[in-house]
Amino acid sequence: MTLRLSAVLAPLALGAALLTGCRGMVSEKPPIHPNLNMDFQEKFEPQEANPFFADGRANRTPVAGTVARGLMPENTPFQTGREAGGALVRTNPLPTTRDVLLRGQNRYNIYCAVCHGKAGDAKGVVMTGGYGWVAPSYHDDRLRAAEDGHFFEVASNGWNTMPGYAAQIPVADRWAIVAYIRALQKSQNAQRGDLPADVIAQVEQGASANMAGGNRAASPASAPAADSTR
Ligand code: HEC
Repeated sequence: MTLRLSAVLAPLALGAALLTGCRGMVSEKPPIHPNLNMDFQEKFEPQEANPFFADGRANRTPVAGTVARGLMPENTPFQTGREAGGALVRTNPLPTTRDVLLRGQNRYNIYCAVCHGKAGDAKGVVMTGGYGWVAPSYHDDRLRAAEDGHFFEVASNGWNTMPGYAAQIPVADRWAIVAYIRALQKSQNAQRGDLPADVIAQVEQGASANMAGGNRAASPASAPAADSTR
């Protein structure tokens, strides 16, 4: 038994000695490098010259607006919908311009209307199709009174059974959607005082003209309201 064991161990020991034996010895020859493994690549080192560019530098300046990894200001009210103290942002940080509303309308109709309905009345196809989901209408008093930040937060993180859309919808677009939801709410809850006098006159004129025409079915409350949001 002892004999056989040493017969196995001896060649092993020899092999190990051959592989490690050169440690500490100096050689003028380049090391043997059988597997290159992409160890040698064509590349420019930092600060190296590169005649390809007019300024001769290999280093390029980052594109304007570049944010270094980890340096994104992620805790601003714009990003989270909450003030520094934790309270929900009351008023949309985006200005309520026509462009913002049109963008919000476009995104809302893509991402939210399937459930919440084009008019925000929760009559989207997913809700009416008998799938067992129930979304609230935006036209109830609680949601009329809710902060803009609440809508932003729900759109970002979800709410009970509703999934969040932070991964699909960029921050500014989520605020644009909030602005548009406010317009939808207004569209079902407008007060006379919300309109300038000339528009009131126009509306009343139109109403009497329509009545004279005789075939005036009341326009459906759920008609998409956005085209008239200015
Ligand atoms: C897949 C269907 C679906 C989509 C799409 C959807 N929601 Fe919802 N949403 C729901 C459901 C369901 C609820 C009610 C959740 C609950 O209370 O269980 C809800 C609730 C809400 C609420 C009310 C929260 C509260 O205070 O009660 C808001 C606001 C809201 N969603 C905004 C949005 C916005 C904005 C979008 C588009 C970015 C969106 N939702 C897309 C299904 C959806």
